[in-house]
Amino acid sequence: MRKKLLLGNWKMNKTREETKVFALGSLALSALAELHGIDIGVAPAYLSLPVVKKYNPNLLVASQNVHYQPSGAYTGEISIAMLKEINITWAIIGHSERRTYDNETSERCNLKIKALLANEMTPVYCVGETLAQFEKNETKKVIKEQISAGFSEISSENAAKVVVAYEPVWSIGTGRNASSEIAQDVCSYIRGLLREKYGEVAEQIRILYGGSVKPENIKTYLSTADIDGALVGGASLSIESFKELINNMI
Ligand code: 13P
Repeated sequence: MRKKLLLGNWKMNKTREETKVFALGSLALSALAELHGIDIGVAPAYLSLPVVKKYNPNLLVASQNVHYQPSGAYTGEISIAMLKEINITWAIIGHSERRTYDNETSERCNLKIKALLANEMTPVYCVGETLAQFEKNETKKVIKEQISAGFSEISSENAAKVVVAYEPVWSIGTGRNASSEIAQDVCSYIRGLLREKYGEVAEQIRILYGGSVKPENIKTYLSTADIDGALVGGASLSIESFKELINNMI
C-alpha cells in the first residue's frame, strides 16, 4: 500500500520570516496528517530549508534542486553534502521551470537522481509535456523519453525510493488543471513503463499529479488508481489552503 503524499513546491516565494510563520502554523497539520497516514511536506527556497526544519521538525522538507557533482566550480549551485549537513534528504528534480529556464535535460536529471540515491536521499522526479506536445498528441512519447532517461542505470531496489511527479506544463500555474481522467491515464502509463522495467517494484513507486491542484479538485485525483498524491504550487502557499488540501485528501 503506497502512502499518500502532499508536497508543496513554494518556488521563489516566502522569506525566512514568512516561512517561520507557516512552519509554526503547520504543527497541528503534521499531527493530523500523521493520524491519517499521509506524508506532508514543503520545498522552500534554499535559505528557508533550515527554518522549516527548526520550527516544524515533523514536516518533510525538500530542496527544489541539487547539483550532481559533490563540489566544485558551479556558481549558484548547491551540493548534496550541503543539504545533508542540515538534514535535508529530499530534492525535487527536473521541475518544468528548471527544464524551461535552466536547460535541465532528462539526462542531467538522471545524474542528479543517481547522486541522490547513492546518498540515500529521495528524488521527486518531475515529468510532463508542453502544451504544444499535448496538442500534437505527443504526451506519451514525451513521458516515455523522460522516464526512460531519468531511470537509466537505476536498480530496482533504488527505483522503489524515487517519487515521480506528472506535471503537464500547460497546467502549471494556469488554473487549467488536467482532468482526473487525463492525469490517471498518464500516471497509469508511467506505472506501466516502470513495471516493464522493474516488475512488481513499480507498485511501490509513488506517483504524484501536479498542475493547478486546489482544495476543490484534489479529491478527484486521489480517488484514482495510480495517483498517490499531489505536488502543489500556488495552493500550498497559505496555511489555510494547505490545511484544506490535507482535509480533502483524508
Ligand atoms: P501550481 O500548483 O501553482 O499550478 O504549480 C504546480 C507546480 O509546478 C508544482 O511543482
